[in-house]
Amino acid sequence: MASSLIIFSFLFIFSLTSPSSFAKPSSFRPKALLLPITKDKSTLQYTTIITQRTPPVPVSVVFDLGGRDFWIDCEKNYISSTYKPARCNSAVCSRAASNGCGTCNSPPRPGCSNNTCNSIPDNSVTGWASSGEIATDVVYIQSTSGSNPGPVVQIPNLIFDCGGIIKGLAKGTVGMAAMGRHNVGLPLQFAAAFSLQRKFAVCLTSGKGVAFFGNVTYKFLPDIEISRLTTTPLLINPVSSASAYTQGEKSSEYFIGVTDIKISDKSVPINKTMLKINGDTGFGGTKLSTVNPYTVMETSIYNAFTSAFIRAASARNISRVSSVKPFGACFSTANVGVTRVGYAVPEIQLVLQSKDVVWRIFGANSMVSVGNDVICLGFVDGGVNESTSVVIGGFQLEDNLIEFDLASNRLGFSSTLLGRSTNCANFNFTSTA
Ligand SMILES: *[C@@H]1O[C@H](CO)[C@@H](O)[C@H](O)[C@H]1NC(C)=O
Ligand SMILES: *[C@@H]1O[C@H](CO)[C@@H](O)[C@H](O)[C@H]1NC(C)=O
Ligand SMILES: *[C@@H]1O[C@H](CO)[C@@H](O)[C@H](O)[C@H]1NC(C)=O
Ligand SMILES: *[C@@H]1O[C@H](CO)[C@@H](O)[C@H](O)[C@H]1NC(C)=O
Ligand SMILES: *[C@@H]1O[C@H](CO)[C@@H](O)[C@H](O)[C@H]1NC(C)=O
Ligand SMILES: *[C@@H]1O[C@H](CO)[C@@H](O)[C@H](O)[C@H]1NC(C)=O
Repeated sequence: MASSLIIFSFLFIFSLTSPSSFAKPSSFRPKALLLPITKDKSTLQYTTIITQRTPPVPVSVVFDLGGRDFWIDCEKNYISSTYKPARCNSAVCSRAASNGCGTCNSPPRPGCSNNTCNSIPDNSVTGWASSGEIATDVVYIQSTSGSNPGPVVQIPNLIFDCGGIIKGLAKGTVGMAAMGRHNVGLPLQFAAAFSLQRKFAVCLTSGKGVAFFGNVTYKFLPDIEISRLTTTPLLINPVSSASAYTQGEKSSEYFIGVTDIKISDKSVPINKTMLKINGDTGFGGTKLSTVNPYTVMETSIYNAFTSAFIRAASARNISRVSSVKPFGACFSTANVGVTRVGYAVPEIQLVLQSKDVVWRIFGANSMVSVGNDVICLGFVDGGVNESTSVVIGGFQLEDNLIEFDLASNRLGFSSTLLGRSTNCANFNFTSTA
């Protein structure tokens, strides 16, 4: 099932990016680019396809919202006549903030070159960082008008890490597409290549969703424009949250300032200090992640949150049943109504910079159906040593359009598109090129 989905999207993109559609007049300047994002049913990771190399190959990679470096395991058949290792002290190395200079004693191949700066490809799913070399190669990507894919455009020298350990990633993927806030993150590289506005938007779903890069009006079938986003500042964690990093490096992940968590309008009693980022240790705070399938909370927050939810559910005669791992609170669907925005369960609210800026989470994003008329609160316990107190995961992000404006450092979010009678699977992928 999972692999057939991947193969399907593989063929689909390949046909869109067949060599004939590469021959576009060089005068075409895209206003925005897009990537398809597909959920892998077995790992619950989100994957995308990036067409790279000469001759071009569509490569499937895990979509990593907070990742710093786009990395590809070059030992998986990397053949390309346009591959260029980054020479030590070159502009590419300084853009990647890589000071190390590497040599390689094996026969030369992509990933093994002399006088090349080093990278630390980070598998953020498993937490295994490894080593690789910084390189550039050509990438082909679809432009978009906001409502359909348009002509394919070319980025001749996209920077990436050649290396990394793919164990733990969705089947068929060979690396990770990093969307984090860094000069070598894909959003800023895409913006630099075509002078796009420095912003991107992500619309995840349980099937095939989409990411947009640049300034377009987002449009989903049936002809619904997604505007009027609620916005909140994006916060910078001064301490890197990667598995391995250079001392003093900031986190490339996206943090937001949750100040209170409410269930059915009542504040959950938690230690509010944990919601703040500690500037010395980088611990605490709330971040967004696509590599966590469900929202992860530090134990004391998780316990208070779950108890409050169980109480609010019980007040609505929703009865609790045995837990199903990895969840800690499951319920019978017997007394639960179904609405446009999912099961009618207590509403969860993440209060942001002021009491009326609220990220509302309804049943479609809070309850996971585990079969046999049982639904579970889709949040998991991260343990007492969880460095980030709240990690908003994929399931909670699905069918919300979230926009990262890297120029103004603001996050915009639509709240569930189900409430606007569409969803993130409703992008029209028929190319107008
Ligand atoms: C790197 O240089 C060393 C020493 O000159 C040489 O033995 C080795 O083959 C070179 N490796 C590559 C990948 O070019
Ligand atoms: C973004 O696009 C809109 C609509 O085309 C336009 O009005 C606006 O000026 C653009 N913003 C920037 C910063 O280019
Ligand atoms: C609240 O959390 C902070 C940060 O983890 C901790 O230093 C403090 O001791 C906690 N306060 C209480 C009352 O547990
Ligand atoms: C819950 O069930 C009790 C007993 O059946 C009933 O009296 C009460 O009205 C119900 N409450 C709600 C919110 O449905
Ligand atoms: C949490 O971290 C502290 C300090 O590193 C350690 O002493 C403790 O054993 C850890 N607790 C758990 C449950 O891992
Ligand atoms: C999707 O876009 C194509 C190209 O513009 C259009 O022909 C088609 O009608 C659209 N599909 C739907 C369902 O509107």
